[in-house]
Amino acid sequence: MSPNSSSERFPSDRGAQTDTYRSRDGMKSGRLREETVLAVGCGSPDGQTNNGLAAARAFLAEGARVCIADREPAALDAAERVLLEEAPEAADRLLTRVADVADESQLAAAAHACAEAFGVLTVLHYNVGIVVNGGVEELDIAGFRRALDINLTGAFAAMKHAVPHMREAGRGSIITVSSAGGLRWMGYDYPAYAASKAGLIELTNAVGMRYAREGIRANSIAPGLIETPLIHTSIVGHHESREAMLAARHAASPTGRMGTPEDVAQAAVFLASPESAYVNATTVPVDGGLIHSSFAAH
Ligand SMILES: NC(=O)c1ccc[n+]([C@@H]2O[C@H](COP(=O)([O-])OP(=O)(O)OC[C@H]3O[C@@H](n4cnc5c(N)ncnc54)[C@H](O)[C@@H]3O)[C@@H](O)[C@H]2O)c1
Repeated sequence: MSPNSSSERFPSDRGAQTDTYRSRDGMKSGRLREETVLAVGCGSPDGQTNNGLAAARAFLAEGARVCIADREPAALDAAERVLLEEAPEAADRLLTRVADVADESQLAAAAHACAEAFGVLTVLHYNVGIVVNGGVEELDIAGFRRALDINLTGAFAAMKHAVPHMREAGRGSIITVSSAGGLRWMGYDYPAYAASKAGLIELTNAVGMRYAREGIRANSIAPGLIETPLIHTSIVGHHESREAMLAARHAASPTGRMGTPEDVAQAAVFLASPESAYVNATTVPVDGGLIHSSFAAH
């Protein structure tokens, strides 16, 4: 077996599993039973498992009430269909809402709808991220601004409209999905993406510090080399072929395999849960050790 193969050698090769240890009511331990999550950018184009769908699935499996917001109605429908096929008993804990993060009023409406439907909003999961490729000579200013608008300003707007609900609840956890690319050069020429993700980390830290005394925490996750559908559209162009991309990304990981969306989702569950009550204003890498190594993705 190739050291770069993602097939199993021992259990940890599979990545985190979300659907094990469920009890009869469809929950795992129920550690998010008290939480209501606004999960932004958690639709799923074609119903495939991306970071957003994996997070929504894991939040529901732990007993949370979840409002999924996404720009794409079709991606929302697909996510809802998959989630309810897997866990029909979660139907009364799942809400979907179309919201484009470029439009503040749509985010405000999504936060309001979530709090109104479930009575409270205690967790914001900001998963939206677009890859904007191109170096300083190729990318125009509009492209750079677009990366900042969607990846960073959208997060600010989502926080702006989630925090008042958290203050009302007397507690909250804000989780932003940044990237290893916001911390390190990854071998890809996408400075707009890198800058937006770096900014997202410090935005998150600043909000976590500001609200620490009010019981609201804010932390980011920095995934690195995750095997999601996104890489087949937005990253593949950096490589000669799809196969070359997959091989390079598996090889670049210190573990010999890319991570899975479930690996990222389990970090989000931890940050949403009371178990992380003393974790604030920091970044949790989910990258197999990548950012600690000296190797780039290719
Ligand atoms: N895949 C990786 O290797 C990797 C690595 C590091 C970080 N990430 C981050 O993980 C997150 C999710 O990545 P993914 O691979 O699952 O991507 P994805 O494209 O499958 O998911 C992103 C979701 O955000 C939605 N979205 C995009 N623009 C939006 C907007 N304006 N308003 C509302 N929703 C919008 C999309 O419809 C989609 O459902 C992103 O923030 C990405 O930067 C991914």
